[in-house]
Amino acid sequence: MKTNKKILDATCGSRSIWFNKNHPDALYMDKRREQDSRIWKSGDGQSERFLTVDPDVLADFTEMPFEDNTFYLVVFDPPHLKSVSETAWLCRKYGKLDDTWPQMLHDGFAECMRVLKPNGILIFKWSEYEIPAAEVWKAIGRKPLFGHHSGKNSKTFWGCFMKGETDE
Ligand SMILES: C[S@@+](CC[C@H](N)C(=O)[O-])C[C@H]1O[C@@H](n2cnc3c(N)ncnc32)[C@H](O)[C@@H]1O
Repeated sequence: MKTNKKILDATCGSRSIWFNKNHPDALYMDKRREQDSRIWKSGDGQSERFLTVDPDVLADFTEMPFEDNTFYLVVFDPPHLKSVSETAWLCRKYGKLDDTWPQMLHDGFAECMRVLKPNGILIFKWSEYEIPAAEVWKAIGRKPLFGHHSGKNSKTFWGCFMKGETDE
């Protein structure tokens, strides 16, 4: 598939990380399309939550339909939960990992790198609720250049990679 978009969000979900959820330079991809509005039980009672996952491109990040060297920037925010129930809000919103997750993240990361232009940037978001980021870097065979912990409990990590960076 050919595109002149500069940015790929490879796991867009409901685009909650975006300030402009329809940024003209971005192509939004996910493996699912769905609309969900229900009453979900939460710790503080019950609340209604809405979920819209409406990617421009429906595809698997382990097998992307783009040519090599296409994007300047790729955002990769894969599912990070293993033990969540299939019906829980967090699972609906973020997806779920199975036992093959190290291989899946390895293959997804390799695809992100393939579709990046030389010297392109990959932003990898990871939440350390169940799996420490160090295990993810082991699975993908690379560590970010630098990054930052954020969130209420500092469990969310934003890491920056560059295609073709000099190996340590
Ligand atoms: C942590 S959520 C992303 C949240 C998103 N960044 C946001 O701002 O709302 C992970 C997303 O990856 C998607 N996903 C899981 N496996 C995938 C795959 N193999 N290929 C493409 N998308 C996948 C899920 O459907 C889910 O929407």
